[in-house]
Amino acid sequence: MAETRAASAERRTILSMKRIDKRFTGVHALRKVDFDLAEGEIHALVGENGAGKSTLMKVIVGINQKDAGEIHYLGHLFNPRDPKHALDMGIGIIHQELNMMDHLSVAENIFIGRESAMMGGLLLDKKAQTRRAGELLERLGMNIDPTERLGRLTVGKQQMVEIAKAVSHELRILILDEPTAALTDAEIEDLFLIMRDLASKGVGMIHISHRLDEIHQIADRVTVMRDGERVETKAISEVTKQQIINMMVGRVIYEQPKTHSGVRPDAPVVLKVTALNAGPLVRDVSFELHQGEILGVAGLMGSGRTETARAIFGADEIQGGTIEVRGRRVSIHSPEDAVDCGIVYLSEDRKRFGLAVNLNVKDNMAMASYEDFRRGPFVNAAKIRKVGDTYVDRLKIKTPSLEQLLRNLSGGNQQKVVIAKWLIRNCDILIFDEPTRGIDVGAKSEIYTLMNELTREGKSIIMISSELPEILRMSDRIIVMCEGRLTGEIPIEKASQEAIMEYGTMGRQTVLKRS
Ligand SMILES: Nc1ncnc2c1ncn2[C@@H]1O[C@H](COP(=O)(O)OP(=O)(O)OP(=O)(O)O)[C@@H](O)[C@H]1O
Ligand SMILES: [Mg+2]
Repeated sequence: MAETRAASAERRTILSMKRIDKRFTGVHALRKVDFDLAEGEIHALVGENGAGKSTLMKVIVGINQKDAGEIHYLGHLFNPRDPKHALDMGIGIIHQELNMMDHLSVAENIFIGRESAMMGGLLLDKKAQTRRAGELLERLGMNIDPTERLGRLTVGKQQMVEIAKAVSHELRILILDEPTAALTDAEIEDLFLIMRDLASKGVGMIHISHRLDEIHQIADRVTVMRDGERVETKAISEVTKQQIINMMVGRVIYEQPKTHSGVRPDAPVVLKVTALNAGPLVRDVSFELHQGEILGVAGLMGSGRTETARAIFGADEIQGGTIEVRGRRVSIHSPEDAVDCGIVYLSEDRKRFGLAVNLNVKDNMAMASYEDFRRGPFVNAAKIRKVGDTYVDRLKIKTPSLEQLLRNLSGGNQQKVVIAKWLIRNCDILIFDEPTRGIDVGAKSEIYTLMNELTREGKSIIMISSELPEILRMSDRIIVMCEGRLTGEIPIEKASQEAIMEYGTMGRQTVLKRS
């Protein structure tokens, strides 16, 4: 430890940002922020949703133009014109939202925009491109076929391709804006290996993450932002996770497990799934959900939790079994059918399921309910505004107005807009898949409060989560899946991390790497 710190003291500063200021209409996003990065350093950047992390990074690569302040890069004043300019100067960024072409192959995505440079101006040679992409992926230890169409990969794998793409350039600085939000534990470990390797070659990295545990694993220093300001920069060895949380939110937050179910004993069953079969990861799954209940679904990655949700939601084909909603058997063949039954699935991949980033807040909210907002042939704009205002207020959505484009909201606030949209559509069975992934501690507790409010109002929630503290804190009852089967059901009164883990690994040969 002492050695690392001594080494970092000698490291050369390659990036130094001074008093960076940036305003958007209605938002003072950056207030005189100082930030610096050394050669070979991994510098974590944390803060609540909307704190200004992504905005600061976009200033470095010229997507956002700063209003005031200075950037020094490799000893010179640096004024990035656009991301291409930054990349040519050795600064790459991996964005929070995936930025790739679904219909192109993995190899094409990696080399997009660089065909001519690569081939010395000659015609693009697909074979060479595929070969080089294959070599790169292999060198990075990524088990991905370069000829596969990108859209066919999981979100986590797509993220890995984006990382490969960034790393394929000669970089001095790599910015990773929430790279781990969509990755599995194993993929995160692979990513950290890649990051450590880059660091040893002198590449400086800025790592934005809401997973505070991983920061202590990977970072040398941490900078905390709040409301557009830098609160503190510290060596990681000098702060605890709790101290970081306190700096982020400016108040103290305690997380406590639930001790007893809040569901009334006579609460009716709103959803009954019997012997559901859908592909290899949904085998004979049966369970019930009661009105006002939060049913936690635990299990390891790949245990079939998401697949079960997708089958119920009509996103994947069902091969057998029945679904009853409030005592009536229903046949669901598409997400539209599910929504008509009042069931909605909020996936971990917000962008793909239900967000129109180029529309404004109001239209995103009204999108699924235009029928209700219509008066004759006209859309009742006043009513949309009124409902919109109510939900901005109720869900505490941070936006200057209903007219703000969704892509200008921070990630956590985008998530809330999606939830509003489905509440407005009268969905009362909500399936949340990793609802707080990529969401900071402050917004997390807001989402928890929201979920509790929703169930108090009589909505019912299925919550898939890989975070056991979250499962224990929120659920009234817990079901556990393993390898496509339901292996256990635990009332909250008897639940513990150990009990969940036991069911979660039942019948498995492999031993858990991390808990
Ligand atoms: N292009 C833009 N136009 C208007 N407002 C913007 C724009 N980009 C960001 N903002 C606003 O600036 C503030 C900071 O946003 P930013 O995306 O930097 O937050 P963040 O810290 O990255 O949050 P998250 O953790 O949710 O990603 C937010 O209030 C956001 O709504
Ligand atoms: Mg961000």
